[in-house]
Amino acid sequence: MADVVTMDRIVALCKRRGFIFPSSEIYGGVGSTYDFGHYGVLLKGNVKAEWWRAMLQERDDVVALDSAILQHPRVWEASGHLAGFTDPLVDCRACGQRFRADQLSELQCPKKPSKHPGEHSECDLTEARDFNLMFETTIGPVKESGSVAYLRPETAQGIFINFKNVLQFSRKKPPFGIAQVGKSFRNEITPGNFIFRTREFEQMEMEFFVAPDEAPRWHDYWLKQRFGWYVDLGIRPDHLRLRAHDPDELSHYSAGTSDVEYLFPLTHSRKGDPDEGAGEAAAGNWWELEGIANRTDFDLTAHAEHSGEKLEYFDQASGQRYVPYVIEPAAGTDRATLAFLVDAYDEEEVAREGAGQGETRTVLRLHPRLAPIKAAVLPLVSKDGQPELAREVFATLRARVGLGMVEYDEGGAIGKRYRRQDEIGTPWCLTVDHQSLEDNTVTVRDRDSLTQERLPIDELADVLTERVQAPWTTPKLA
Ligand code: GAP
Repeated sequence: MADVVTMDRIVALCKRRGFIFPSSEIYGGVGSTYDFGHYGVLLKGNVKAEWWRAMLQERDDVVALDSAILQHPRVWEASGHLAGFTDPLVDCRACGQRFRADQLSELQCPKKPSKHPGEHSECDLTEARDFNLMFETTIGPVKESGSVAYLRPETAQGIFINFKNVLQFSRKKPPFGIAQVGKSFRNEITPGNFIFRTREFEQMEMEFFVAPDEAPRWHDYWLKQRFGWYVDLGIRPDHLRLRAHDPDELSHYSAGTSDVEYLFPLTHSRKGDPDEGAGEAAAGNWWELEGIANRTDFDLTAHAEHSGEKLEYFDQASGQRYVPYVIEPAAGTDRATLAFLVDAYDEEEVAREGAGQGETRTVLRLHPRLAPIKAAVLPLVSKDGQPELAREVFATLRARVGLGMVEYDEGGAIGKRYRRQDEIGTPWCLTVDHQSLEDNTVTVRDRDSLTQERLPIDELADVLTERVQAPWTTPKLA
């Protein structure tokens, strides 16, 4: 499988099937920003729904929050982002490009092509200087000091500044968590690798507040939980690992961070194309999907100092007062979506359905819960009463709560319609044929095994809903 997956193929599939488009394409695009089309919205929506399910529905110690993207500028002073959220930036006087000083060994100057990565240092580089990654804007019509604001670079701070509100209303006490999903913005120097590193992206973050002496235990607990989440949703365990940060990698707030990393089985890297980022894209590299940090009491203490509000917990049972420690699983929605897409991508030789000759099909073997469309209803031919019956089946299934999105498609040869559904990862195609009109059954074609079974129409909604929710094992890929 690894030798067929390239980022180019993933990008092409995403465009061809309407998952993800380069943003502002009719104006020539704007570097490394993307728009999600119909199936992309559904897929990413399912990733988020699964995250919420794991955080809220399957437990009772986490509550939800949706804080504003624009926050008081002092939030970023307190959090340390204003002073320290920087990357070292260098300019190349030869090509005019900007690079991260810590990635130079993997970049090349387009004006001075070289066979050897690392030779960018021959180029005419400026001294490295700190570049703050926060996007700055102004609140209100007048550009004056005091109205400066920043687009949030992480969703986490919105949680810390609401700690007191949530503690009061939620009737929770440590250990408990606050979860949030939303957009964050970073003016990355070298974005790239499709939606892996962009300047506008989505995060799924949860801050879990615990007694200080319980932090190490909860850190271990969340590492296991989060690793298991990706596996349960179909990523092959041998493509995932946990990696502890070296001390010099740790963020300023962290007493310990481990990343969930994904082995992107990519054979293509666009080294030298600054807009595509570099280094990280080499074949078989481990890339960060999610960081799980022990943030200690750094953030609550900092916000208490800067705001003058007490941000602590008083345990009436023990009479203890303390500033909770925080364990933070921080995931990227777009990165997770990309990893699910890449891990699901497959190409295989199959007999042409309906014609007998061999062909290559592209298939997304997505977990049914992530699949944008759960089932497609297809009349074999668009005559003889088949479309009418198929539309009835479609109407029944789409009304079924808990099944998810169902699609109807009657245009073109059946083989082509199957291929289209394979490429968007639809687990089941339901074909209405001449026999359906006689005995009220349809064929159910399985995306992965290509087997077909006949099921009564009136059992479909139950059977498919159960299959979508059932535990699922990634089909063995060649
Ligand atoms: N609150 C902690 C925090 O933000 P982070 O490691 O900087 O930690 C968490 O970000 C996750 O957000 C990353 O693991 C990644 O999945 C995602 N992420 C960060 N920067 C990103 C970017 N420029 N583009 C896409 N995703 C990004």
